[in-house]
Amino acid sequence: MAAGTCRTDVRYRVRGLRDCLNVDDFRTLARRRLPAPIFHYVDGAAESEHTYRRSLLAWDEIGMAHNALVDVAAVDTATTVLGQRIAMPLLLSPTGTARLYHWRGELAVARACAAAGTFYGVSMGSTFSLEEIAAAADGPKLFQLYVFRDRGLSIELIERCKGAGYAAVCLTVDTPVPGMRERDLRTGMTVPPAFGWKTLLDFAAHPAWTLGLLRGGRLRMGNLENRAEGRQDITTLARFLGGQLDPSVTWEDARRLVEAWGGPFAVKGILSVADARRAVEIGASAIIVSNHGGRQFDAGITPIEMLPRIADAVGGQIEIILDGGIRRGMHVLKALALGATACAMGRPHVFGLAAGGEAGVRQLLALLHAEIRRNMILMGCATIDAVSRSMITNDRIAGYPIHKGDLGMAAV
Ligand code: GLV
Repeated sequence: MAAGTCRTDVRYRVRGLRDCLNVDDFRTLARRRLPAPIFHYVDGAAESEHTYRRSLLAWDEIGMAHNALVDVAAVDTATTVLGQRIAMPLLLSPTGTARLYHWRGELAVARACAAAGTFYGVSMGSTFSLEEIAAAADGPKLFQLYVFRDRGLSIELIERCKGAGYAAVCLTVDTPVPGMRERDLRTGMTVPPAFGWKTLLDFAAHPAWTLGLLRGGRLRMGNLENRAEGRQDITTLARFLGGQLDPSVTWEDARRLVEAWGGPFAVKGILSVADARRAVEIGASAIIVSNHGGRQFDAGITPIEMLPRIADAVGGQIEIILDGGIRRGMHVLKALALGATACAMGRPHVFGLAAGGEAGVRQLLALLHAEIRRNMILMGCATIDAVSRSMITNDRIAGYPIHKGDLGMAAV
């Protein structure tokens, strides 16, 4: 799916990192480097994948006007999120099992994030342990968790995060059960895996990937070891993790985790004003407006279309991180204009990791940072705070009426 990419008559092939000019190029390279079941596990989404497609395309409806003749000789892209000063308003969302994409897995992503000066969202389903990832690089880290059937396990992970110096914790609230990802059923990317002979040939046709996987040793889930009975392989631990998802979790459970952590806390998977208000009530520091990359509930709701009304309801009371379909620096700026404090992205950094390990993620982050900076200059915004709703040119975004009084150029 090409999104955030212009149609061009120039024919080109993406052979290596040097050819990657945008997220879509990283995706193309990742597709070449990964066996099909692994690529489709990342790239796929729930049911008809309608929500995923809409999240990629929703940006095109939003226009922004620039302010001319503003002194933007010095532009500062830095901002503060979850108590940390970061170099740009873009974080990496938690995505699990990074060693499936590159043998250095989360350690490579942590180093790339530290170099870019931004937050790394570490998934509870990481292949390396949260302590190993913390030791790999300085740089602010956010740890993602679920409330498990075993409530003690969530608290134990929070205590481990304190010990390892994590800056923030995030609770994912849109996963009472796993979403239905039909691509995974078709490729055999299930728990346990059900690969046919064609897939085994596919693995053989990707020797660099296969050797990398072997080189990294036994594939594990570093945060859950010794919690499941039996062999501590990824299949056992993934099955354990799936069994720990608990559809009876409520806001009261979330409140207990906010208290247990006692520091910057984000609630991830908010898509309604009512839930945004509940997150404020339980004392969370941030909400992550997200549809889990369209991998859970295929209801067609996109984070960006929900953002303005959520921002109008709770903006100023809680930080708002927009996570959904970010493929360009300009998408980040559109989200900031509509009320986000910052943005986060998941799949793109997995594509960067698969395309070129740490160098791939570094290049991807540098590219997006440059796009944010260049577009701020073009828009006449010297700081993040100067990006405002008044620069949005549509008076109607996905049914949400922006107040007429807000239209027109920003006062700078
Ligand atoms: C896990 O959170 C996934 O979306 O696969």
